[in-house]
Amino acid sequence: MGTPLPTIIDCDPGQDDALMLFLALNAPELDIRGIIAVGGNVHLAKTARNLAMLVEIAGRSDIPLYAGCEGPMVRKLVTAEYVHGETGINGLDVFEPEIKLQVQHGVDFLIEALRAADDDEITLVPTGPLTNIAMALNLAPDIAPKIKQIVLMGGAMREGGNVTPSAEFNIYVDPHAADVVMRCGRPIVIFGLDVTHKVMTTPARIAKIRGLGNQVSEVSANMLDFFGIHDSEKYGSLGGPLHDPCTIAWLLEPTMFELKSCNVEVDTKSELTMGHTAVDYWHVTGKPKNAMWAHDVDAERFFALLTERLALYG
Ligand code: BDR
Ligand code: CA
Repeated sequence: MGTPLPTIIDCDPGQDDALMLFLALNAPELDIRGIIAVGGNVHLAKTARNLAMLVEIAGRSDIPLYAGCEGPMVRKLVTAEYVHGETGINGLDVFEPEIKLQVQHGVDFLIEALRAADDDEITLVPTGPLTNIAMALNLAPDIAPKIKQIVLMGGAMREGGNVTPSAEFNIYVDPHAADVVMRCGRPIVIFGLDVTHKVMTTPARIAKIRGLGNQVSEVSANMLDFFGIHDSEKYGSLGGPLHDPCTIAWLLEPTMFELKSCNVEVDTKSELTMGHTAVDYWHVTGKPKNAMWAHDVDAERFFALLTERLALYG
């Protein structure tokens, strides 16, 4: 294993964000410099509290946590309690975490951390609306060269949308931020619904996780039981899609995914298709390829990795 990858995570927990965090927080491959919460699945007060609870459960009180933006750059915040429950993280009993968030605003932290880094050093992993990342890029365009890559969950092409017929939630909530990110000129790796809908929980997969018998696995299984309810009704599936952990899984084991270099643009103009990711999969526009679009994954390997890493919390 080489030097751990300097990484900053930005999320809106969310049960699938929680699994993304658990996968990241004990990975020796990653050097997590900070984690920022953003308003998304639920309001910021809850995503920030959820973040602190999850990091505490994972035993990583050494990582600084920040609260970023409450809502999108232009539009009104749309939340998803209907998927994640009232707390944003139903399945986990809410408690008052001992870990306190830093007083510094998440966007200020991002700017400061990137300014202090070398060129091409920091990997950003956003798994919520892209508001914090776009605000930092707008306020301090000089930070862009410091970003090694942005590995994000968002968007949909073949799969269609999950919040409107054509838009995926994270991009729909802040399409203007997503547009800034897509045009930032740094390498972008995108895990949208085309691939995340291939990593579905099942009762058997959740049972395996619960069977690991440690606190993190127990909490994970309880959250996934809740998370599966809405999506199994919606998609007629046995469980729910583990969207956000795809980002970290790719950083840990990239060969389980298939990606294609494409031009990706975000619709910020039409109310009908707001937040749609126009993925030029066949390069019909001739526009520059600005992102790697994930289109396939080996789901068995994905769940094997997840289960293996959660077992290490024992
Ligand atoms: C994305 O939206 C949120 O509800 C999930 O946490 C995930 O990041 C999926 O569309
Ligand atoms: Ca999320």
